[in-house]
Order: sequence, then structure tokens, then C-alpha cells
Amino acid sequence: MTEPAAPWWKSAVLYQIYPRSFADTGGDGVGDLEGVRRHLDHLEWLGIDAIWLSPFYPSPMADFGYDVSDYCGVDPLFGTLEEFDRLLAEAHARNIRVILDWVPNHTSDQHPWFVESRSGRDSPKRNWYVWRDPAPDGGPPNNWIRAWGGTPAWTFDPPSDQWYLHLFLPEQPDLNWREPAVVEAMHDVLRFWLDRGVDGFRMDVIHLIGKAADLPDDPPELLSNPHSSLNDDPSTHALIRGLRDLLDSYDGDRMMVGEVFLLDAALVARYYDAGQGLHLAFNFPPLFTRWRADKWHKRIEEVRDTIEPNGWPTWVLSNHDVQRHRTRYGGSESRARAAAVLLLTLRGTPFLYAGEELGLEDAVIPQDRQVDPGGRDGCRAPIPWTSGRDHGWASTEPWLPWPPEADLRNVEAQRSDERSILHLYRRLLGARRRSGALQLGQQILLDAPGGALCWSRTLDDDQRLVLVNFTDATVELPAAPPPDGWQRWIVQVASDGQGEGQPYSGTLGPDQALLLRPG
Ligand code: NOJ
Repeated sequence: MTEPAAPWWKSAVLYQIYPRSFADTGGDGVGDLEGVRRHLDHLEWLGIDAIWLSPFYPSPMADFGYDVSDYCGVDPLFGTLEEFDRLLAEAHARNIRVILDWVPNHTSDQHPWFVESRSGRDSPKRNWYVWRDPAPDGGPPNNWIRAWGGTPAWTFDPPSDQWYLHLFLPEQPDLNWREPAVVEAMHDVLRFWLDRGVDGFRMDVIHLIGKAADLPDDPPELLSNPHSSLNDDPSTHALIRGLRDLLDSYDGDRMMVGEVFLLDAALVARYYDAGQGLHLAFNFPPLFTRWRADKWHKRIEEVRDTIEPNGWPTWVLSNHDVQRHRTRYGGSESRARAAAVLLLTLRGTPFLYAGEELGLEDAVIPQDRQVDPGGRDGCRAPIPWTSGRDHGWASTEPWLPWPPEADLRNVEAQRSDERSILHLYRRLLGARRRSGALQLGQQILLDAPGGALCWSRTLDDDQRLVLVNFTDATVELPAAPPPDGWQRWIVQVASDGQGEGQPYSGTLGPDQALLLRPG
């Protein structure tokens, strides 16, 4: 009996697009869906398998689209539904899958559901959101803290003399998933997009949708954390099973990757729910791990021991919520190159964040240009496509300043330079696509000297080795392991492009990472 083929999302590399910042064709300084469509050729050339589009739905933009006022439309800033359909069809024609960002925990306060819910205690949609009477002292119903503000996760509504819950901004009221009509309405949203042909969803803060019925206080010692990083109610799992059943009822391996913002791999692992929960879950401890071999060794083992028994891992170094990893790791490009080798060779599904393949750093945002309530503007700077003054945008003044060195660090300049980090990403993606071991193979961490890591990937007789030097000193990797010694292995991809096609020398240069294949 042959094994069933692995679903696409296990061997795929996904690429996150933050539409506001990707490419502007309309001339208003904000990226749009047409900008994504026009660059599909480039994404195909790069070799990614799927794109994840951050929200493009109608939104007042208090949280730049994570405050949705209509789940089944396209904000005019980004285009039209017809343009979305065209983008989807043209992506599919290039074998690029498309997943959407679905925001189930909260809507915008301008969403008609909330407007109606807020209209009075006897509104038919009152129970669609989380309304509570004041505490005996007239204050918020519990001690939960919202994200970013360090302030209560509740806003008082004087006309109805009740508070509503919002784990993020007051403009983002939490939906009440204990209300069956909410579950039904949100399932309908998924059906709307699945019927149009999308391949799945990235589910925003999915660990928040279930909440304890009595909304108990958080322990006082945890009150420096927003409740959004603590909520882990068992009722969420049944809700996710409902989502899984819905996706699995469609053909074509529709997939959901959940953002589980709990900084503990063992907690994240539970959201796979023995094959009945999320297909994939983001596990963020590695995202917040420093560039040190010992720390990464621990993270890789942790994923092996806690995530893998439950489901297929994911790996992320950058996204629209955190400083870009090149900046986080100290700014050196050679280190960002080594990180690319790590990200694209670990066992699991990697997620790239648009612009990391150019080695972009965070933009420096002057105070008068800061717009995000969560202080995340730097990583959301626009993608430079060309060296010209407008960098390929239909506007010279995009909504955020350009990232550093946009004259050099743009797609046009790097495509014409085979030594660029962009070409490194492309070579890595190509190497991955051609190796079952890199896509799906077993992984074993092997002994390495301090400051370096090495691991093998094996599937049947396909084998690869990965060596990463996390330090800026040269590291000798002894000739002992594997059985017949390192020296017989050939450098398939080198983070600095040096020595590809040559036998491995036994030495890793500063910040160097190598992908080896048997000689
Ligand atoms: C997580 C998203 O990634 C972030 O950008 C957003 O602000 C919050 N969820 C709230 O939706």
C-alpha cells in the first residue's frame, strides 16, 4: 500500500503579503490587490507555493484591517471583489495557492452587527458581543487588560449602562462565540470565500474565540500581560473542530493555520487537537528567540518533543507584528542570510514575510509618521520594487517611509545580482522543492561545536545536512559525523554563495550556513 500523498501545506512555503505595503497601482500611496496581481510573475520566479493575504476587507482601519466592518467584501482602498477573483485565478494558474486572513475574535465597532448590538439591551444581536454589567464599584466587569494600552479590556456604554469586551482596541469589540448565531454567521463567511476558491485561512488570534463563561479575573501576578496572551479556554477547541469540519467538507485540502499567541509550545500543541483542530499552528517562541545556537537548539528540540507528536510544525522569523529579524538579529546581512538557510531547512512549513527575501530592515519612522496603535510601523514599510524614486509604486509618498537602503535593496537591483540575498532565497526554495528530504523528511539534530548547529534531513535515500554558524568567528566542524565524514558532502547552497558545487571543507566561516548534499 502506498502512503497517501502529503497535503500541499506540509511541503509548501508560504509568503505573507501585507497588502497596504506590497505594491500600489492606484497612486494613493497604499498597496492594493492589483499590485499583488502584477507581481505574481515575480513570486513565481522566486518559487513560493502560496500567499497569505493580510486583511483587505472593508475596515475603518483602526488596526489597519484587523478591525473588519464587512467580512465578505474588499475595501475600496485595496480594490474590488472582481479584482480579488482575478488575482485568485491568476495565482492558481501559476500554481500559487491563496489563503486569506480571517479575523474571528472581534469585528470593527462599525460592523453592522456591533452597531445593532450596541443599539440597546434588547437588540436581537445584543448577545453577539460580550456585554456585562459594571462591577459593584461601577468599574469594569473584570481585571482583564487589553493589548497595547495597559488599560482595561472593557469600554463603558452609558446609554445601556453596560460594558463591552475588547481584548484589542475599543474599536475592536470581541464577538461572543457562545452565541450559536455568531458561529453560524462566521461559518457563512468562511463558506463565502471557500466557494470563491480560496485555499484556506490564517486565523487571527484563534485561541481567543472561546472564553470562560464567568470571565474570571486574571491572576494579579500576570496583569502585566494583556489577556490576549493568556486566554486559553477549553471551549475554543470545540469551536475549532467546527471550523475544521467545515474546511474538510470542501475538496482540495483547504487549510487553516491558526495564530495561537500563547508563548508556550506545549500550549500551542493542544490546538492541533489530535488531527481534529488546526491543520497548522503558529508557534511563536522561536520568533522571540535570540540568534544564538544554544537557544535555537532548545527551540528545535522543544518543537520536536511537544509540537511534532501533535501536528506538523511551522516556522516564522518575521511578520507584520514584530521587528524584522534582520534588525532583531543585529542588522548584519550575513546573519540574515544564515537565518534564511535555517528557516527554509527546518522540518515544518516555513512562512516568509514579504521583504525578508530582500534582506529588508525595519524602517525608521519619524514620530509624525507613526500611525499604528501597537508601534509596529517599522516592519510594515513599503516594499521597494525598483531603484527609481518611486521604487515602482504609483506614488512617491507611500503611507509609511521606505525601509533603509531602498535604492539598493529592491527587487530590480537584486534580481540582476546573482550574489544578492534575493537569489539566495530563490536557490533555497529551489533546493527545497527538489528534495523530498527537505520538504517532508525526518530531522535529527547532530552534535556540533559551541556556536553552531547541524541537523540532517532524510526521506528514503534522499538526504541533506544543514550547518549553521551563529557566531562571527570561524567554526571547525570535525570530520567525524556522519558515518563517512563531512568532507564527502557537496555544498548545495551556501548563505554567502561561496563554494557551491564544491566538497565541504570542514570549516564554517563567520555567520555562514550551508546546505549539503551527499557527494
Ligand atoms: C494579530 C494580528 O497579527 C495583529 O496585527 C492584530 O493587531 C491583532 N491580531 C488583532 O487582530
